[in-house]
Amino acid sequence: MSQILPDAVVETAELTEVEGAVCIRAAGASDVERLSIYFTDLSATSRNKRFMGARADVAVLAAECVAKANRPDQFTLLAELRLDEGQGTIIGETRYAYNAVARHGDFAISVADVFQRKGVGMQMMTAMERRASDLGHETIAAETARTNAEMRGLAKKAGFADTGLGDWQSVHFAKRLP
Ligand SMILES: CC(C)(COP(=O)(O)OP(=O)(O)OC[C@H]1O[C@@H](n2cnc3c(N)ncnc32)[C@H](O)[C@@H]1OP(=O)(O)O)[C@@H](O)C(=O)NCCC(=O)NCCS
Repeated sequence: MSQILPDAVVETAELTEVEGAVCIRAAGASDVERLSIYFTDLSATSRNKRFMGARADVAVLAAECVAKANRPDQFTLLAELRLDEGQGTIIGETRYAYNAVARHGDFAISVADVFQRKGVGMQMMTAMERRASDLGHETIAAETARTNAEMRGLAKKAGFADTGLGDWQSVHFAKRLP
């Protein structure tokens, strides 16, 4: 099992609706503050959807995202907008962790409000799936609110299917990795 190095660029893409290159890279300890700002800048609606409830402790959440970055079965990927040389702006994140009991990887994802519906979420999903597959994980899963049309749409487009394990409030979906 190989580890994903912080700052290692996983993928770079030019998205037609985004000016500049969107770079997907692994988060590291030095990203905590910027990730905390990213979570703070999300609209309350997007933040509540991301964490499936209201959370005000964004600094703690950001620290949690990178705390176990050096463990091979967990990683956080950041989508960064790079307009020119230098530090980019975080416009999305996805957190992945392998659940050894359930024997599948769990993930959660968000994209900055003004960058939503431009393909960034799909780009991160693809990078995350590839990474999980490289780690030898066979199935990936997530849960979201039944009312979260955008996440349900993204999951469907990425090839996930409803497992039926959700309840009246939430949907649980999964995908077998190639
Ligand atoms: C869910 C989320 C990550 C999607 O990211 P995104 O960058 O907007 O997604 P993409 O632009 O890559 O869209 C991919 C597909 O998702 C679906 N989708 C995205 N937004 C949608 C919306 N508002 N309604 C319905 N389907 C939607 C579509 O199928 C879309 O493909 P299309 O544009 O070709 O129709 C983003 O909306 C978000 O951050 N939401 C708030 C946080 C959240 O809900 N996280 C999920 C909890 S785990």
